[in-house]
Amino acid sequence: MLTNHNEKGMYSFNIDKFYRNYLKGPKLFKKREALEPSFIPDELPHRNSEIEKIAGITACALKGDVPSNFLCYGMTGTGKTATVRYISQKLAQHCSTKPPWWVYINCTVVSTPYRILAHIYNTIVGKEKIPSTGLPKDVILKKLLGLLDQYIKDSICFLVLDEIDILIEKKGGNEILYNLTRLNENLDHCRTSVIGISNKLKFMEFLDARVTSNLEEEEPIVFHPYNANQLYDILKLRADVAFQEGVIDDGVIKLCAGLAAKEHGDARKALQLLRKAGEIAERNQTKKIMENHVEKAQKDIDKDHIVEYIFSMPLQVKLTLTAIFLLSKYSKEHIITSGDIYEVHSELAQFIPNVKQLTHRRISDYVNELSLSGLIITYTKSMGHYGRTKIVKLDIDFNLIERVLSQIKKIKEYRLLDYKPIILQTDKVKIKNMVFKKLI
Ligand SMILES: Nc1ncnc2c1ncn2[C@@H]1O[C@H](COP(=O)(O)OP(=O)(O)O)[C@@H](O)[C@H]1O
Ligand SMILES: [Mg+2]
Repeated sequence: MLTNHNEKGMYSFNIDKFYRNYLKGPKLFKKREALEPSFIPDELPHRNSEIEKIAGITACALKGDVPSNFLCYGMTGTGKTATVRYISQKLAQHCSTKPPWWVYINCTVVSTPYRILAHIYNTIVGKEKIPSTGLPKDVILKKLLGLLDQYIKDSICFLVLDEIDILIEKKGGNEILYNLTRLNENLDHCRTSVIGISNKLKFMEFLDARVTSNLEEEEPIVFHPYNANQLYDILKLRADVAFQEGVIDDGVIKLCAGLAAKEHGDARKALQLLRKAGEIAERNQTKKIMENHVEKAQKDIDKDHIVEYIFSMPLQVKLTLTAIFLLSKYSKEHIITSGDIYEVHSELAQFIPNVKQLTHRRISDYVNELSLSGLIITYTKSMGHYGRTKIVKLDIDFNLIERVLSQIKKIKEYRLLDYKPIILQTDKVKIKNMVFKKLI
């Protein structure tokens, strides 16, 4: 076995043996990168009409003309980024002269107007010429215009603003978009074209009208979620590239496609599931990827999402969840009402400086939010002449939630997970916000 017991009888993991066995074990992957999100496949099934529309808009670049600015919308994992990258490769293959330039900006990473301009400049020159802070914005804008004319000369430069919805929410977002869509007015030789990609369909509501008209020179291109059959086709092609022959049956690929289709038809999730299933199978040293590997992969991914989601919640929502956790921790039988959560939240808020107590209504909003995200379940119950009340229960693994909450800085620092709520302290009673010791 891989584990040994040393002379004191204690468990010890034999890493040398583990690696030796692993090397001897079956090799399932042929090209693991083919399942990574950054991999651009040779074909993009079920994106014909989107590719056709974008090819139509961008074709004039082959003859040196400037394509219109345009937008792509669609939920995450619908192939927007992959399609635009695919088009950039195809366009380059068909150019008889100099291919167009492409500057790709992911607005979740490069998210301030200054950094966007600096990123465009640095990408074109190929080195970090502009520091990431420091110069006034109009100075960089001028430098950028000069660079585009001198460096790119009379070629076309596509500026792809991916996850553009993030940029719009930021200060100065509309202004930088306005500047970028009007660069051509101040250029003598080079011509630029802006492609905006958004995961949120509603983001146009946040755009200034003058930016909208610059970005909507063409009908926006809408990417619809994939269904299970379409995801199967996508996965099948990728699996053929990624895995050795015969290690995965169609039924297993169909299972991955079906599971991902239930989650808004997200191809990224489908590929992640397939990759994880392959990794689990390889670690288990089996010759084939089986359905149980997919099921295990799905559980791991769900867990990762829960962890990520809890970490990303605002502190007050984390405290609301902590209140529910504490109420369940100390009494399995206790029925948790939203009134209890309010009480415990108020107690917790007092421990942390600068954290406000919330109103009943706010707590109720947060409880709804937690319920929508699937972390808790709620139902209403009649309490006789007290009327109806909302009952709350944790809906995820107790140990998992404890592990995640214990890593949150403020919760750890003020040792909130060791706190026992007053309603569960048998010797205390709370009346009108005052705590009294029970006499009996
Ligand atoms: N039609 C498709 N064919 C092959 N792979 C696809 C297709 N659509 C999406 N993908 C893959 O799914 C993943 C997510 O796609 P991506 O373009 O990043 O989605 P979005 O930008 O819409 O969030 C990437 O690995 C991409 O290669
Ligand atoms: Mg994308």
